[in-house]
Amino acid sequence: MKHIVVLTGAGMSAESGIKTFRDADGLWEGHDVMAVATPEGFQRNPELVLNFYNERRKQLKEVQPNQAHKDLALLEINYKVSIITQNVDDLHERAGSSNVIHLHGELRKIRSTKNENDIKVWTEDIHLGDNCESGYQLRPHIVWFGEAVPMIDKAVEICQQADILVIIGTSMQVYPAAGLLDFAPVETPIYYIDPKPAMDKNGKIHVIAKSATEGVKTLLQILD
Ligand code: APR
Repeated sequence: MKHIVVLTGAGMSAESGIKTFRDADGLWEGHDVMAVATPEGFQRNPELVLNFYNERRKQLKEVQPNQAHKDLALLEINYKVSIITQNVDDLHERAGSSNVIHLHGELRKIRSTKNENDIKVWTEDIHLGDNCESGYQLRPHIVWFGEAVPMIDKAVEICQQADILVIIGTSMQVYPAAGLLDFAPVETPIYYIDPKPAMDKNGKIHVIAKSATEGVKTLLQILD
């Protein structure tokens, strides 16, 4: 079985109704990204940050996987599929993909502010005063700007084993995620699905300038 590695960003979930980051002038759902997605922002105003992610977690219960999530899950019939997502939603899993790595954390999990390895599934709100078993405040299990990306080594290893690499709905601006495609073997074809593609690497990438749902359909025809 050929191994397809799929790297997804916010555009993957746009057609499910979750806003992307950079289509909104540095504002994320009306908030300054630096206020809600940095350790400094959390220190300054923990309640604001907890509430922000509480809202995102609630939103997750109202949205559904789109056709592109579902089509990627069906690829598992004929391929070994690894999904590496920058998204913190669980739409790939809910569409049926069985092998998903979250580079930037997961909305449905929390962790201790003291111990980044003390992680638990948590589907409700987090409030100030909600503590881990050792008595430290809980925070969302999200990788904020300036924090280490614990899953990056695993992601690099997977990209090195790709027979086909597919990139969907990402502006390729945030490292180390944006550097992952450079780890694919030179002979591995790379497809990039995005209505406003941010790169073509001098024609080395097969750009499919479409939305995720339309673009994945086109990809399936190409792979057929
Ligand atoms: N289908 C596919 N792609 C789309 C769609 C769509 N329907 N709508 C928008 N896009 C594309 C945009 O053209 C853009 O290239 O999705 C991309 C979204 O880019 P960003 O908003 O920058 O999101 P992303 O690349 O995932 O951001 C990376 O930055 O803020 C951090 O941690 C956050 O994981 C995030 C990271």
